[in-house]
Amino acid sequence: MKVCRKESFNAAHRLHNPNLSEKENKQLFGVCNNPNYHGHNYTLICCVEGEINPITGYVMDLKILSELIENEVLNRFDHKNLNLDCAEFFNLNPTAENIAKVIYSILRKQINTKLTLEITLWETDRNYVIYNGKY
Ligand code: NI
Repeated sequence: MKVCRKESFNAAHRLHNPNLSEKENKQLFGVCNNPNYHGHNYTLICCVEGEINPITGYVMDLKILSELIENEVLNRFDHKNLNLDCAEFFNLNPTAENIAKVIYSILRKQINTKLTLEITLWETDRNYVIYNGKY
């Protein structure tokens, strides 16, 4: 059984690899390499999978999951410049892939190890990534 909580946050970022030339960065990341950053309205879906607890009838209390996401993720990233404000991305390119991976590792520590965690992060209406701890 999988239970999910959907949230959203707004953040700015710039996709850039400092080990590559300016030209290579432009070719790779296009408009996302804009030196003055750009923003996204991210939609975040956190899913927890496991057995239903016979006492509560829940896999995980979604109120607890929602508070966890708010305290650990939204308070950290909402209305921030990911490259400049968030230490997690000082040396990590804030692609949707890397943002999802960072969110996974933050939440994984707080959720019962018997439950699996899956992070879905929508960066635009058309592009999203899913991360479940593999790779
Ligand atoms: Ni972008």
